[in-house]
Amino acid sequence: MKKVGFIGWRGMVGSVLMERMKEEHDFSKMESYFFSTSKGGEEAPVVANGFPKVLSAIDVKSLASMDILVSCQGGEFTQEIYPSLRTCGWNGYWVDAASTLRMKDNSVIVLDPVNRQIVQDSISKGMKDFVGGNCTVSLMLIALHGLFKADLVEWVSSMTYQAASGAGAKNMLELLQQMQTVGNKYGANPGLGALEMEKEANTLIGSMDFPKTNFAHPLALNLLPWIDSELPSGQSKEEWKGQVEANKILQTNKIIPVDGTCVRVSALRCHSQAMTIKLKKSVELSTVESLIAEANPWVKLIPNNKAETLTKLTPAAVSGKLDIPIGRVRKMTLGDEYLNAFTCGDQLLWGAAEPLRCVLGMLV
Ligand code: HSE
Repeated sequence: MKKVGFIGWRGMVGSVLMERMKEEHDFSKMESYFFSTSKGGEEAPVVANGFPKVLSAIDVKSLASMDILVSCQGGEFTQEIYPSLRTCGWNGYWVDAASTLRMKDNSVIVLDPVNRQIVQDSISKGMKDFVGGNCTVSLMLIALHGLFKADLVEWVSSMTYQAASGAGAKNMLELLQQMQTVGNKYGANPGLGALEMEKEANTLIGSMDFPKTNFAHPLALNLLPWIDSELPSGQSKEEWKGQVEANKILQTNKIIPVDGTCVRVSALRCHSQAMTIKLKKSVELSTVESLIAEANPWVKLIPNNKAETLTKLTPAAVSGKLDIPIGRVRKMTLGDEYLNAFTCGDQLLWGAAEPLRCVLGMLV
């Protein structure tokens, strides 16, 4: 059995990964070792074939005794530890949730339902670094898999509605705190009309003492149309990832342009995207629908009607689920080759932990 070391298993993505691995009885297929940057020596989580003590994640020698390392510890850890491991001659598999190594030539971006064969071929060729994709990119590709597979996509513009979880656990809690602060204000002034209350609330979210240590801005009663750093192109880094990662995952011969505006909204853990898709040729809507619906086991086509859209195609409906619904699929008035679609997916499952779980399954 392969020796697998887990780092960052207590964090949000790591916890979701652990949960999924337990549900699917994955631990029985490997020997598991749990590493920590601060809790070495403590009791490890109890799993099948698990080593009972937590090991130190800054002990390169101990990490290098593993066949596979799975890191959900974040980019800084990867930046620090990964080069030391390779320099000391470690030739094991590195599986990572962080973006640090994603665009390197010797890394493969893993997204099982979409590029399983590419991942399998890369393992056969001796590639060693396997990295999960950006969550919005992965969720978009699973949703539109059928159209990419049929080579029908000329370009995609995706406008995102990204949940607080993408910014981290502290940000999720901060959003709830912000909501609570606003709720308390409303509770203290029950007699106010809608317009007066809006004035009060807007003053409150703009005030110095509104809780915003992590987001730096109010997200409750608001939205934030910039995610990650600024690039010279005028894109945010999150927007830049759309095209480069999608094309790397699909290993396209000719770049398929992907661009749009990425926006943080007050959902908790599900990212949504409104997409305009330019097809390479005019295709019957019924054909488009079948291609989308039959592409992989996770995509779920939601008929374009109000009732099903509002019950099945929302963050509230999708939270905690592996299914990736896509709906609002219709031809646009822009022309017969222009499709409208909307998708929503759990950014911690297929957006983060699940692709890592799948590649780990292939490696063990
Ligand atoms: N960068 C994403 C976000 C999450 O901020 O929502 C990680 O892929």
